Amino acid sequence: MKILITGAAGFIGTNFLKYAVPRYKDIFFYCYDKLTYAGRLSNLVPLLVNDNIKFTKGDLTDCDLLTAIFSKENFDAVINFAAETHVDKSLICCDQFIKTNILGTQILLQISNDFNIKKFLQISTDEVYGPVDYPHRLNEAACLKPSNPYAISKASADLICLSYFRSYNLPVVITRSCNNYGPYQFIEKQIPLMIYRAMNNKYLPVYGNGSNIRERIHVEDNIRAILVLLEKGKAGEIYNVSTGIGISNIDLVRILLKRLNKPESLIRFVKDRINHDKRYAMNSNKIKKEFNWKPEIDLEEGIDTTIEWYMNNYEWIKGCFTEEFNLFIETNYGELF
Ligand code: NAD
Ligand code: TYD
Repeated sequence: MKILITGAAGFIGTNFLKYAVPRYKDIFFYCYDKLTYAGRLSNLVPLLVNDNIKFTKGDLTDCDLLTAIFSKENFDAVINFAAETHVDKSLICCDQFIKTNILGTQILLQISNDFNIKKFLQISTDEVYGPVDYPHRLNEAACLKPSNPYAISKASADLICLSYFRSYNLPVVITRSCNNYGPYQFIEKQIPLMIYRAMNNKYLPVYGNGSNIRERIHVEDNIRAILVLLEKGKAGEIYNVSTGIGISNIDLVRILLKRLNKPESLIRFVKDRINHDKRYAMNSNKIKKEFNWKPEIDLEEGIDTTIEWYMNNYEWIKGCFTEEFNLFIETNYGELF
């Protein structure tokens, strides 16, 4: 079996490959990534010694390059991780979110359809549902009410995916997961940013009053869900992947500080995110019932191993601060980093 993995050098792509490449020797993983500020080839270098993996640099919107690769490789399946992923960035400049997340996904779908791919797994997010009032939890049939430009671009991609299934029978499966955390997550996201700042005794910026609620899943639990869906997910179906446990941002930051043995005086409430979704909450009964998947890593255990990873990989954190990223944060964030 041969699979195209887009966005391979990002956070979830890297963790997926580190998990899957040594375990599935009968699968060939063809990695494709534009290597934006969020993707790092060095994440994958140790894996590239294996016979069942290869990397090509390329853009999701590069129809000619992708067509040439598909003609040569005869893929069975595609997993589309590639995306612009940071909500705050999408609120500042959303053009690249539209290009990659919407147009790029459509191009990949069209080529996958032209080459009769047997499964197209779209990696989506709980953000497509928009904010959810307590105590409700949404299942896969809920309406999409995305708020911010990132969420809107991902919801658009989901709808285009479903259209390729309904119009051309392309066997698309969509997985919508809650917030992932773990090793190799780029420093712009909340958990790695808080760990990095606390390690350096810098204040921890909490947007608004910190009451916004997210569900947090360890990336390895999500990877097991992705692998189950790659094998068994039904064409045209959507599967939520979440823990069912919401936690407010302020409570999460307090846990991080406690595990890092740092004082709560480091917490600083800062200006809220524009249009900040109050609460995401999904129900994942479908994947649990149909495929017996369940999350296995509890938050405190997952946070501890994540902290340990960032502490042991300080050079990796420093690698996030490229010229491109420094310029972006200088122009847009002031001293938040
Ligand atoms: P990430 O930002 O860490 O990685 C994204 C990767 O995509 C990077 O390697 C980047 O170089 C690549 N990329 C970006 N634009 C590209 C383009 N035009 N062509 C080719 N490659 C491109 O993101 P992540 O956290 O690993 O997320 C992976 C997927 O999972 C995304 O689709 C995201 O929407 C989805 N998702 C993420 C989370 C989460 O909490 N991280 C939750 C739900 C869904
Ligand atoms: P983030 O990690 O950016 O993920 P997403 O916006 O995709 O959920 O943010 C997670 C939550 O943390 C979100 O409610 C915004 C909040 N947040 C802060 O309070 N401070 C920060 O510095 C960041 C980056 C996020």
